[in-house]
Amino acid sequence: MRTKIIDTVNEFVGTILIPVFETHPLSLVPIEFHGVRVSAKVFCGKRDTHYAVEKYNSTHIFIGMGQVLDYKSIKTIFRRIASKYEEIFGENVALIIPDAFTNEQVEAAVSGLYLGTYNLGHFKKTVRHQFLKEDFELNIIAKKDCSEITARAIKIAKAQFEIFNLVDLPPNVVTPQYLSDWAQKNGDEFGFSTTVLDRKASEEAGLLAFLAVGKGSEKEPQFVIMDYIPENSNEKTKHIGLVGKGITFDTGGLNIKTAGMLHMKCDMAGGAAVMGAMRLVADLKLPVKVTAVVPCCENSVDSKSFLPSDVIGSYSGSSIEIIDTDAEGRLILADGLSYLIKNFKPGIIVDIATLTGSSIGTFGYECGALFTNNETICRQLQQSGDAIGERLWQLPLWDAYKSDIESEIADVKNYSGKPVAGAISAAKFLEYFTENHKAWAHLDIAGVAFGDDEFAKTKHATAYGVHLLTKFIESLNYGQQ
Ligand code: BES
Ligand code: MN
Ligand code: ZN
Repeated sequence: MRTKIIDTVNEFVGTILIPVFETHPLSLVPIEFHGVRVSAKVFCGKRDTHYAVEKYNSTHIFIGMGQVLDYKSIKTIFRRIASKYEEIFGENVALIIPDAFTNEQVEAAVSGLYLGTYNLGHFKKTVRHQFLKEDFELNIIAKKDCSEITARAIKIAKAQFEIFNLVDLPPNVVTPQYLSDWAQKNGDEFGFSTTVLDRKASEEAGLLAFLAVGKGSEKEPQFVIMDYIPENSNEKTKHIGLVGKGITFDTGGLNIKTAGMLHMKCDMAGGAAVMGAMRLVADLKLPVKVTAVVPCCENSVDSKSFLPSDVIGSYSGSSIEIIDTDAEGRLILADGLSYLIKNFKPGIIVDIATLTGSSIGTFGYECGALFTNNETICRQLQQSGDAIGERLWQLPLWDAYKSDIESEIADVKNYSGKPVAGAISAAKFLEYFTENHKAWAHLDIAGVAFGDDEFAKTKHATAYGVHLLTKFIESLNYGQQ
């Protein structure tokens, strides 16, 4: 999909999308667009309503916007239009931008239209949505110049669409190798470098915690390192490090998930969010250095699997007592964080992971859990999320929780063994591997990475984090960091 700015709808024949703000159902003034009138009795712009009129050889779709116009609602409204009206779109489609729309609202609308083309039927004989054809042009009619913001909206949506694919495709397709290939390919296309440590190279590097998790799987672990350096970068250029959990399937290991593991292909969603953000940051050519680490492996069951009560090593040199093999995400993140800090020394670090069921117990499916030792990045992350409907809420890192990860036999243990404060003790475990870094944040996205909504009958990817991380990175040049 591309966008094309046109001046007027006069010559246009096709499908015309007309957003309408809510009026009153008893209003005597009809809603009118270009000679097409709709009585307020049948349609008055209420949110989540539509009204279609065929006139002058064009299909006019009036879209109810309601009164509250937050980013996420607009995006969902337009995603719904693209996905539910697929059959009635002709070759030509025009979107009318209301004068009252801000740039962010235009971005949300166009991104939403693009994402509406996403279809979960990856293995079905379905036809691709016509919006996805390379030469498909969405006509935009607006008073102000929208070409830059619509191009940006499509870049955001394309990155999110890719991450829908990575998370929704099954674990026999999305293997660690698939993820490292994806990073390599996207790096070449968008302009970041990718280095991959396979099993042997990871052994040589000493990524012992990472390797312990992948031991029980046939699938070769891949430790993916991505580096984006903007044009004209100098010593003043901000440098951020990202780490994402890339468990392509989490069986729990020998502490097998007896309560079910059907959705555990989503356990690489944090890693995928990091990969999507790398692609988007490079595509938008943001003036910030970004180094990302995504340890990718499968947590599986085998005679070779690591055992509960094993004591393993780690890249940092600390020993770890394994209380539960299902607390695997923090092990691979520990090596990811140590590796990033030792080899790249970024000024700011954010890690993102589907880390604990406990974070879902706390917040349900409404927001990610945010842990940080830095007030400035706390605010910038929350503001970035609020602006686009990817919310975060902070939980504490108090040292009162430190005893949860103290081990008798090793330097640290991977689980408290207690059914309380699980998201917090996981964060404390990660903190142990941050070498007292002064600007680190951890995002536990177990509740928001994979969810139910109107767009499919089963749970599916949300691409949570792709836009959030990108927006946060964009905000860095305006803050004090
Ligand atoms: N991948 C899971 C967390 C998860 C749960 C992600 C639900 C998405 C949806 C993680 O590896 C895990 O198993 N966590 C355990 C930790 C426990 C054994 C200490 C949990 O949260 O129960
Ligand atoms: Mn697990
Ligand atoms: Zn997991």
